[in-house]
Amino acid sequence: MAQQAHQFFELLKKDHRRAEQLMQQISAASRDQRQQPFSTLHMELAAHFQIEEKFFYPKLLPIEDMKALVEDALDEHQTAKDLISQLERTGFASEEWLEIFEKLDEGIRHHHEDEEQEIFPRCTQFLKDQDLTDMARKSVQEKEQLLARTARTGSAGMAQRKRAREIHP
Ligand SMILES: [Fe+2]
Ligand SMILES: [Fe+2]
Repeated sequence: MAQQAHQFFELLKKDHRRAEQLMQQISAASRDQRQQPFSTLHMELAAHFQIEEKFFYPKLLPIEDMKALVEDALDEHQTAKDLISQLERTGFASEEWLEIFEKLDEGIRHHHEDEEQEIFPRCTQFLKDQDLTDMARKSVQEKEQLLARTARTGSAGMAQRKRAREIHP
């Protein structure tokens, strides 16, 4: 496989390690310090899932040998999204919050193992180098756009708009 084709998996693995690091930080944080790393984790996971669901999994789903693994992976994404919504509705300081977070943490780590040990190695039999190179390029673009949009609409964007109103009421 061409060197560049590997780049797609390297990008995804880098995201995985970053999410795991954030989850570790959240687990170790005191109750009143969970919110900020959790918002970052939420944003990172949403961007990562979107990239995989838009550029990667639709290419694999029609392949008979990959179908069951992909369906399983998509279910795991959905479970994680549901747990994140639950965490957003639950008070950060509550005992329940940590219980739900532990389920998310365990589910995400298991999902990363499935992807890295089964899906990534197996799918290279079916995808062309060019497919992987295109996916890497599209993923980088998509992530930049998503993060820029979140920065505009998220708390940083709100602070910027507030400052703009103070200058030009
Ligand atoms: Fe992933
Ligand atoms: Fe995934």
